[in-house]
Amino acid sequence: MSASGSRRPVTPGPNWRSRLQAWRARQVARPEFRRFVQWLPLSRGYSRDQEADLFSMVTGFVQSQILFAAVETGLLKALEAGPVTVSDLARATGLAEDRVRRLLQAAQAIRLVSVGGDGFATLADHGAVIQSDPGIQAMIGHHALLYRDLSDPVALFNGSNTETELRRLWSYAGSGRESSVKPGDAAAYSALMAASQSMLADEILDAYDFGRHRKLLDVGGGEGAFITAVSARHPALTLSLFDLPPVAERARQRFAGKPLDQCPHCHGGSFLDDPLPRDNDCITLVRVLFDHEDAVVLRLLRNVRAAMKPGHMLVIAEPMAGASSRGQRLSTAYFGIYVLAMGSGRCRTPAEIIALATAAGFSRFDIRPCRSALMATLVIARP
Ligand SMILES: C[S@@+](CC[C@H](N)C(=O)[O-])C[C@H]1O[C@@H](n2cnc3c(N)ncnc32)[C@H](O)[C@@H]1O
Repeated sequence: MSASGSRRPVTPGPNWRSRLQAWRARQVARPEFRRFVQWLPLSRGYSRDQEADLFSMVTGFVQSQILFAAVETGLLKALEAGPVTVSDLARATGLAEDRVRRLLQAAQAIRLVSVGGDGFATLADHGAVIQSDPGIQAMIGHHALLYRDLSDPVALFNGSNTETELRRLWSYAGSGRESSVKPGDAAAYSALMAASQSMLADEILDAYDFGRHRKLLDVGGGEGAFITAVSARHPALTLSLFDLPPVAERARQRFAGKPLDQCPHCHGGSFLDDPLPRDNDCITLVRVLFDHEDAVVLRLLRNVRAAMKPGHMLVIAEPMAGASSRGQRLSTAYFGIYVLAMGSGRCRTPAEIIALATAAGFSRFDIRPCRSALMATLVIARP
């Protein structure tokens, strides 16, 4: 009892799971325990995987920079057509031959390239995937910005670094700045988003059948890369998008050459302040919510809800937080830190998104995993 007579709230102690985890951590911290696990035939493989996983985390930034160099010097591109000699690679990349050999050795170690006994280099599996996908290449290229923002991670976490490169790139990030987005600002991030749709759209289209709808509005739809993929899969759907005026203008230019009946309507405005077009039986929000804080997401979802009627469907697709698969864990770490560097937003679990959507007036939810949790998970909501 305190002097004033009121009782202090009692903080509940850790539950059995936390106590068990703490006990496990104490065991794993003991070198003799780890030696035992390495020695035991049953756990030897697990122990080796754990060790490699840990080392890969400790050295992960080096791997990312080898990858960056392999893309930026044009090494992967030079290998696209088939086996190439070191001297041809030196010409293609502008590096000295001994530096090409070093880059090849590092890139081979992370399975980007393969160097045969004949001295010729070719793409290995990871390199072939990256070289075939402009979206991954664009993502790797723009990581130069994130890498600089992460050079002092403590400053990022304690909030003293607010002038980040990603904040400059995503000019709408942070409450109330979206109306000041200029065409030049929109160009850089919109091109990146359009390029990276190549990795995402098929995942979403395979996880949800948009063919059951008549009219679809993609809110925060960027330059229209997602609705272009939707129209290829479901040509009968009437499509439109809504985005900030300079971005909607870029979308209009993108569709300018198309026949009028196939030209989606591109609405410009703020999805927070302007009424959204009605009479769409499906609204999509692709990689939009995670850019914003909860209060902004709530405003956006209420605005979306106001444009919908019973029987309509909202499809939210973005990378979501979770721990049930390796993809989800990687996604949680990557996107959580990405939006921290942007200065706005959060990587949310499906349950957190459902809670916000419920507060905005939606009900009856489905969660649909995509093939790759790294790309997206879907939350489907009905008004
Ligand atoms: C991360 S991008 C995603 C673009 C696209 N959906 C995709 O996945 O490629 C978020 C989009 O939301 C748009 N946006 C941000 N704030 C907005 C606002 N207040 N009103 C309308 N659009 C907005 C941005 O311009 C951008 O195109």
